[in-house]
Amino acid sequence: MFVRRIAVIGTGYVGLTTGACLASLGHHVVCADVDPDKVARLTRGEVGILEPRLAELVAEGVAAGRLSFVLGARQAVEPDAEIVFLCVPTPMGVGGVADLGSIQAVLSEITDVLAPDSVLVNKSTVPVGTAERTRELLGRDDVAVVSNPEFLREGCAVEDFLNPDRIVVGSASQDAAERVAALYSRLGAPTVLTDAASAELVKYSANCFLAMKLSYVNAMAELCERLGADIADVTEGMGYDRRIGQSFLTPGPGWGGSCLPKDTRAMLQIADSADFEFRLLRAAIDTNERQRQRIVDKVRLAVTGRRSGTLAHTRLGLLGLTFKANTGDLRDSPALAVAAMLHQDGAELVAYDPAVPADTVHPGLEPISVVADPELAAKDVDALVVLTEWPQFRTLDWAKLAGLARHPVVVDTRNLVDPDVLARAGFRSTGLGRR
Ligand code: UGA
Repeated sequence: MFVRRIAVIGTGYVGLTTGACLASLGHHVVCADVDPDKVARLTRGEVGILEPRLAELVAEGVAAGRLSFVLGARQAVEPDAEIVFLCVPTPMGVGGVADLGSIQAVLSEITDVLAPDSVLVNKSTVPVGTAERTRELLGRDDVAVVSNPEFLREGCAVEDFLNPDRIVVGSASQDAAERVAALYSRLGAPTVLTDAASAELVKYSANCFLAMKLSYVNAMAELCERLGADIADVTEGMGYDRRIGQSFLTPGPGWGGSCLPKDTRAMLQIADSADFEFRLLRAAIDTNERQRQRIVDKVRLAVTGRRSGTLAHTRLGLLGLTFKANTGDLRDSPALAVAAMLHQDGAELVAYDPAVPADTVHPGLEPISVVADPELAAKDVDALVVLTEWPQFRTLDWAKLAGLARHPVVVDTRNLVDPDVLARAGFRSTGLGRR
């Protein structure tokens, strides 16, 4: 059954993907944003984020008359939206607690225009208890509040939305939960129907588990180096265990992005407020912060032959700036954190990233000269440092880059490029946890 009017408030990654994908499933969707330029661009089918298939789905939805964009939440909800999705940002606020200011602002705008028997769905990642607080703030017994967390990854948001591992829906109202679950029935995914607090916790719990998995792998990679073992073989051997799985087992410069760092911090706060000391999670966060220093030490050793001391008079070429491949997102990127530390130690930095144009202005890019191709990033450098796992880095003309560098050295923090390819090109290379 198709819904005649779904309102989606917020057209960021989650909101736009939700709106475009629900329209592609046959529902009628009105998406709202507070930015008039963005609304105008989206109406013309211009999607400002790098996300495979998203622009295509937006254009199809608009052309089919099932997807439209309006300015302001009120306009999307009035007069008869049956289901309203809240997809607004919940950034890290004071002390790591998620900031619910945007959610509150939307609520005060739409409370009096919500249709009787409509359902308010929260897709943003919010502290446990938010659905309950939303119900109180709304003060409307005829509108149910549902928590329906989103598990999509940047770079494969559409794919994740349309092929979900699971749908999680939580509410005090069984009827409302079933109405929301029915939106996704065509996807045939396992569905967990639960209370709102449990649904809210699933999201944090999953993201924190992924973060702990990555910190564990980064710690294992360090141990491999000390024991003369190889992390790729160790994780492959572990991953065949179906209880562990092969994914999320690649070591790197630490996990980043707009979700895992924020959600792990928020989870610590949630635990703290429940008087629970979450030592396991705290250790995962500490390990992640330490990982950046470990990368800097590795670069220093590769370039100067010493474990400590300055990097003054060294020039480093960074390959990759985004927090992971296939996205243009620089928020909380480990690459930028590592770059800041290298700069502080005196290194001159030049960088190339396929998704970051040379003139990009972004906090964290200040100490870096961003160039338009890998060859410029290799010119006269003392080492090239691979920081993001862009697949195209594997097949760069490494022999040419070796000829351009002052010293042919590669520090591959993603274990991305085949060490034999680098050796044949004339590079001395080092990775993480490799024999
Ligand atoms: C993450 C979760 O994976 C999604 O399920 C969740 O919906 C999303 O947060 C969210 O809360 O909205 P995302 O932040 O897009 O998705 O990025 P991930 O693909 O999870 O990567 C996170 C970080 O881990 C990146 O810095 C990435 O480079 C790193 N990573 C990932 C590794 O270092 N090694 C790996 O094997 C995998």
